[in-house]
Amino acid sequence: MNLGNAHYLEQQQRRESSARTYPRKLPLALTEAHGMTVKDADGKTYYDCLAGAGTLALGHNHPVVVEAMQEVLASGLPLHTLDLTTPVKEQFVDELFASLPPEFASRARIQFCGPSGADAVEAAVKLVKTATGRRTMMSFHGGYHGMTSGALSLTGNLGPKREVSGLMPDVHFLPYPYAYRCPFGEGGEDSHRLSSRYIERLLDDPESGILPPAGIILEAVQGEGGVIPAPEAWLKEIRRITRERGIPMIVDEVQAGVGRTGRMWAFEHAGIVPDVLIISKAVGGSLPLSVVVYDESLDTWQPGAHAGTFRGNQMAMAAGAAALRYIREEGVVEHAAKMGGKLLGALCEVQQKTGCIGEVRGRGLMVGAEIVNKAAGADALGSYPAYPELAKTIQRQCFDRGLILELGGRHGSVVRFLPPLIITEEQIEAITGIFLEAVAAAEAQCGVLQEVCG
Ligand SMILES: Cc1ncc(COP(=O)(O)O)c(C=O)c1O
Repeated sequence: MNLGNAHYLEQQQRRESSARTYPRKLPLALTEAHGMTVKDADGKTYYDCLAGAGTLALGHNHPVVVEAMQEVLASGLPLHTLDLTTPVKEQFVDELFASLPPEFASRARIQFCGPSGADAVEAAVKLVKTATGRRTMMSFHGGYHGMTSGALSLTGNLGPKREVSGLMPDVHFLPYPYAYRCPFGEGGEDSHRLSSRYIERLLDDPESGILPPAGIILEAVQGEGGVIPAPEAWLKEIRRITRERGIPMIVDEVQAGVGRTGRMWAFEHAGIVPDVLIISKAVGGSLPLSVVVYDESLDTWQPGAHAGTFRGNQMAMAAGAAALRYIREEGVVEHAAKMGGKLLGALCEVQQKTGCIGEVRGRGLMVGAEIVNKAAGADALGSYPAYPELAKTIQRQCFDRGLILELGGRHGSVVRFLPPLIITEEQIEAITGIFLEAVAAAEAQCGVLQEVCG
């Protein structure tokens, strides 16, 4: 029985917490989904460029994923196993380790976590604190690591932190190389050079006020922070700096991992390997699964040092293994790199034709367009102020035209494209066509002056 969007939305609004997020901006009830499209309860079809916030690498209900789940159901395998092992779990670990750089995989240990990215972040923090005997953590401006207490402490966005007292202490934030809004006010290449130099000097300063850290956590491409790819040279420098000082480097690939950036793992663009890798979202083939993979030298944990009831989700492991296998065998990562280039190029054309996109950036199929107010004038760097109202209007105009996109970044002014990795060239043309129309309509609605648009 389908009672239509209005009914489900009204019930949701009445009964669900006011912390709910997506339905406020994307008012629909979902009834069906295949590949890159979803259908709502009124029968309208949308292109889904949110894809479970980057979870659905193979899109909705991919046949290999569905088949893997059906096999588990038919086999009589226990669906819940705590952290006891099964043949399905072993296959998942085999596939996951095969996807990692051999020098990392050969020394890797894996911990299955409660099935959210945030829980894997919590595990990683405990791991490095235990291994180093230190208590300080370092994170980055704009970083997003989840909503549990420790993960939120490591997150830049002040919105969800403001009302919560007693977050994890001893967290220090470092400048991320976000050239368009350079934290040093310099921009360009200087942005990442200054960042790594500052970090190196800070770590060596006996009067910095900050105790040596147990770990430094970062995203190789910041997702929620506004789709900001870290330059390869910067990642290499952070790797050198942390390695020389015996500081574990934790790379959070909850969003950027599993082929999203056009490499299997986003850190691979820089030719580095981390000490700790945090993985979730796409690794479960659309079901909840999260793991921490780390260098064996850090494995000083006692039994039960990190636990959780739902660490043994066999359906997720089967779906994840099937998705990883398909990605490997069918060249999905290469496809994502190619399609990412096309998407970036098409969005640069939209930028030329409209007047409110300050920057288009991304890596692979993790792409963003930063919406700015050119009428307000540029700063010393040549960057314009964020324009959150216009970004929201663009999102709504896209939604009305059947395209689901999310916002992120400072003041929610970055329109984010996170399509399934199996997106086709035709679909890229379709979504960027809709986006162009939506931006033009939103500009008209918000009164963006044509002379500013040039
Ligand atoms: C980089 C990163 N880390 C951690 C998380 C938290 O994952 P979860 O929402 O599954 O707790 C997210 C979620 O978007 C993320 O993007």
